[in-house]
Amino acid sequence: MTTSPTPTATATDEKYRGPAGELVDPSTTVLSARDLVKTFGRVIGLDGVSFDLKAGEVLAIIGDNGAGKSTLIKAVTGAIVPDAGQVFLDGREVHFRSPQDARQAGIETVYQTLAVAPALDIAANMFLGRERRRKGPLGSIFRMLDKSGMKTDAGKSMANLGIATIQNMSQAVETLSGGQRQAVAVARAATFATKFVVLDEPTAALGVKETGQVLNLIQQIKAKGLPVILISHNMPNVFEVADRIHIARLGGCAGVITPQSHTPTEAVAIMTGATTLEKG
Ligand SMILES: Nc1ncnc2c1ncn2[C@@H]1O[C@H](COP(=O)(O)OP(=O)(O)OP(=O)(O)O)[C@@H](O)[C@H]1O
Ligand SMILES: [Mg+2]
Repeated sequence: MTTSPTPTATATDEKYRGPAGELVDPSTTVLSARDLVKTFGRVIGLDGVSFDLKAGEVLAIIGDNGAGKSTLIKAVTGAIVPDAGQVFLDGREVHFRSPQDARQAGIETVYQTLAVAPALDIAANMFLGRERRRKGPLGSIFRMLDKSGMKTDAGKSMANLGIATIQNMSQAVETLSGGQRQAVAVARAATFATKFVVLDEPTAALGVKETGQVLNLIQQIKAKGLPVILISHNMPNVFEVADRIHIARLGGCAGVITPQSHTPTEAVAIMTGATTLEKG
């Protein structure tokens, strides 16, 4: 027996399963940033920048050092409060005052300055700030950390994301390789995000194999139905995984392109100001 498609569904607007198994229209805007402004004294960090993140896409943000990429994502993830402009999540305006506010709203960010606790083990890092507790011998008064439960779930998350090189969730993060550490941070983000994941230069310090692993993770997150914002300087990486590419330049936006519309060389030319993009 076949189920008939909904009358509005066409071959061009294929719906897909979102993180909670719901049907999602890929043209839905998950996040919308409008005219964001941020100045640091006399330095203009953001000069009225807007962008949209669509359901299930990987949106890359590229740009030279100091172009305002990190500032842009900090302004939508609560790490800084913009001086002006608006942020809409699922169409509703939000005012995040801290990264914790954004996390509670389902946004997970791996910042450029990687935040892992090196001395803690992988499971503890996965659940950092979200530690699970179980009832202790004296009932709910002295609730103990549910270490074994967290370890099991950390292992499951890693396995679901296809991270095969890390076997022991009791291993301290400081004993992991750079790529494995980055994988833990990305896995944590992928596990807890319900709206989208932001990765600021996740492969900057990594070798070829480790970079491949993180790119694979990005594909896994996308396959879960979660959109990703990826900040990167690495053109081959960006052109491999991005659906759209936002080009940051001098605190503004020099345009939005796709891997189909432009070559990496053209993207770099727009990024550096050698070429200007006709704005549609
Ligand atoms: N906390 C701050 N105080 C003062 N200036 C800042 C601060 N944060 C960012 N800036 C300035 O804002 C501009 C944009 O910085 P931002 O970190 O967003 O750049 P970026 O595009 O992420 O660069 P990179 O590729 O080097 O990471 C820079 O000129 C930077 O010096
Ligand atoms: Mg940056």
